[in-house]
This record gives sequence, C-alpha cells and structure tokens, in this order.
Amino acid sequence: MGVPRPPTTPAPASSDLVGAIRESRLMSDRRLDGIRRLVASGDYPAEPAPLADILVRDRLLTAFQARRLLRGRGRDLTVGRYVLLDPLGHGAMGRVYRAWHRMMGRVVALKVLHPSLASGGDSAARFRREMLLAGRLDHPNVVRALDADRIGPVAFLAMEYLLGLTLKDLLTLRGPLPPADVVHYAAQAADGLAHAHDRGVLHRDIKPSNLLLTADRRVKVLDFGLGRLLASERGDASLTTAGMIIGTPHYISPEQARMSEIDGRSDLYALGCTMYHLISGRLPFPGESSMDCLVRRIVEPPAPIAAVVPGLPARLVEVVDRLLARNPADRFQAAGDLAEALRGMLRRKVAVAGPGTASVVAAAPADAGPATPVLPGIASPDRSGEACANADRPLSVVADSAPAPLAPSRGRDPGRPG
Ligand SMILES: Nc1ncnc2c1ncn2[C@@H]1O[C@H](COP(=O)(O)OP(=O)(O)OP(=O)(O)O)[C@@H](O)[C@H]1O
Ligand SMILES: [Mg+2]
Repeated sequence: MGVPRPPTTPAPASSDLVGAIRESRLMSDRRLDGIRRLVASGDYPAEPAPLADILVRDRLLTAFQARRLLRGRGRDLTVGRYVLLDPLGHGAMGRVYRAWHRMMGRVVALKVLHPSLASGGDSAARFRREMLLAGRLDHPNVVRALDADRIGPVAFLAMEYLLGLTLKDLLTLRGPLPPADVVHYAAQAADGLAHAHDRGVLHRDIKPSNLLLTADRRVKVLDFGLGRLLASERGDASLTTAGMIIGTPHYISPEQARMSEIDGRSDLYALGCTMYHLISGRLPFPGESSMDCLVRRIVEPPAPIAAVVPGLPARLVEVVDRLLARNPADRFQAAGDLAEALRGMLRRKVAVAGPGTASVVAAAPADAGPATPVLPGIASPDRSGEACANADRPLSVVADSAPAPLAPSRGRDPGRPG
C-alpha cells in the first residue's frame, strides 16, 4: 500500500543528484556546497549513482534515501519536520519509518497512515480525538507517542524509536516461544493495557505485531489510538470487499467482530489470542477467509490449548481459556487482574512444558527478563548510544546501513565533506 506522493520528478540528470538533494531538503546549503566542491575537484564522482554510493559510504545519505533520490522521489523523503531515514515495516494502516526530527535532532519511529484512515468524512476528527487520547498515555510498557499531525491527506504519528523485534517477528524467526517467556511478555502487555484502560483508552488491535520486545526485554504496546481508526475503516464489517483495508482479524474479540459495544475485556481477549498463537504457533481461529475467522469465534470455542500443546501447566491453561471466553463476563475483568495472575505464575516458578521439550522451568522473576536471550543478533543493546550517536549529527543523520531494527549502533562516521 502506498502513501500518496506528489508527482514524481524525473530521475536526476548526471550532474544533478546534488540538485535532487537540495530539492528534498535533506541537507543544508553549506553541506551541499561542500559536496559540489568535491565533485568539481574530482574527489567525488560526478555521475549520480557512484556519487550516491559515496554519500552512503560517507554516511551523508542512507541507502534508502539514495535509492529514492536516484528514482526522482527525493521530495517523498520529508514529512513535515521529519526526514525519513529507513523503512521499518508496514501494515494495514500505513508505513513506519525511522525518521529524524530536524529541529529537535532526534530519531523517531514515524508511522505514516494510509490516507483513508485520517482524512475524508469524519476521519480527520476521529484521528485528532484518538491522538489526544494516545497522548495521555505514559507507561513503561506503552510506546511513547511524541507527535501527531496531518499535512494535507497525509496523517502521521511520531513515537519513540525502539530497538527490538515485534513478537510476530520473533514467532516467525523462532517458532513457538517458551511458555515462560510468553507469560512474562503478556504480564507486561497487561500492565500497559491496565494503564490505558484506567485512562479510558482501549487498544482494539492487540496482536503479536503490536507488541515490541526491546533489547532490554521490555514489552512495549504499539499503536494505541490507531485501533479505532482501523475499526471504523473495517466498518461495514468488513471484509467482504477485495482490496479493502483491513487488519488481521485473527485476534479480535467476538463482540468486536460483531461490531457490538466493547470495553477493556475485548483487549484481554485479543491478548489471549496472542498468547495462544505465541505458545502454540497456531491461530486460535484459523480460517479460509477473514469472514470465516470472525464468524468462528462467535459460534465456537477454539481448539483447547491444552490439547494443542500437551503438558502446559494447568494454571496457564486456565488463564488462556479464561481470556478466550466468548462471554466477557467469564474473562478476567481487568487487565491488572490478569497481570497479577501471570506474575503469580512467574513468582511460583511454575514448571512449564514447552512444545517438543520435556520440561523447562519458567523462572523469570516478576520484574526481570527471562533467562534466555530473546533477541538474536543484538549483542549489546544500547539504545541510548544510538540516540546519542545520532543526536550528535547535525545532518540528515545517516544511521546504520545494516537492516533496522536489529542493527546495534555504530559509532559516528569519520569524514564528512563540507
Ligand atoms: N516505535 C517503533 N520503533 C521501532 N520499530 C517500530 C516501531 N513501531 C513500529 N515499528 C516497526 O514497524 C513495523 C510495522 O509496524 P505496523 O504497525 O505498520 O505493522 P503491523 O502492526 O503489522 O500492522 P498494523 O498495525 O498496521 O495492523 C513493526 O513490525 C515494527 O517492526
Ligand atoms: Mg502495528
């Protein structure tokens, strides 16, 4: 899915990559003059592609920026005061980029929403309302929202940039997670939900891709405030029109699927579906189509997790079953109660049999991470280091060329022209 962009300009002529950079407003005129002098003196190549390679090498552009500039799409690289650095991913609602706030000199994650979610009809007002609510949240298990705005049809949300992996990524990389880890992550997600619910904010789209595990093993709930936008886009429920924008319906509650009134217990159901999927590697309601998945949760219970993953401790089975109760009255009534129940299991070091293993101990203390490393590839998770390295950089801030978000930060680059 694409974000609307201004008509593209033709790819830069040989001498004019610098012109394209100027038009994109990625660098100061002084910096550009410096680059131009180096081209004139023959120290930098004049042809756009080799010049772009050198600027990437010298960390004056990211590879992503260079590609866009060479395709004549430099103007897409700025969104208001933000400069896009690298794509982080995309989903039903839009695209997420690592971006740089020019004035404040900091790196953020910028979610650029699909236009239909925030413009036209009453969506603009809804976007404003939801962002006001999201701005109220301030909790260690909720990603911090920093800014939200709309420029023409393009609405965006800036949030703290987190180095980590979503639980969906982790599931894809590793397969089913150790039940003890899932309990630990779900307890943190429940803490974040409790904070939001206490302030009258529902999530509406809890799922593995909206739970991000940071390098220091903290779970952050992403996309608060966006679920309602998506819900109304799903609107006419849904899912019949091919190509319509919809999120995954695999985790939503029966009452949400029916478009009935919902409350915090609906988020708890979605967290239950998420736990089920993370523990077993299977969706509680797989189906041929989105409609099929939605209807099944309304009319039948899921395959019992105890049968799908034999050997799970009775207490954990009980928690998952209770979260997946069709009637909200049969679920945990508050996210705080769920967090407490999960922490109780961790405190008691419940013995947990993971899929395909004999028995493993879930020994994570209530407020520490599980014993096993959770993020392959992050040797030294140092987010503050990265922030500082970038904050020092007055330019377009070129960060790691290694794939985000797993790449640990490197130091500052040595030479810069200009
Ligand atoms: N604050 C953040 N910091 C770092 N990376 C992030 C942040 N927010 C999102 N991401 C990355 O961006 C990716 C895409 O997020 P996005 O929310 O667009 O996907 P999704 O959850 O699958 O879909 P959707 O929420 O639209 O249904 C995530 O998988 C994650 O890797
Ligand atoms: Mg998301």
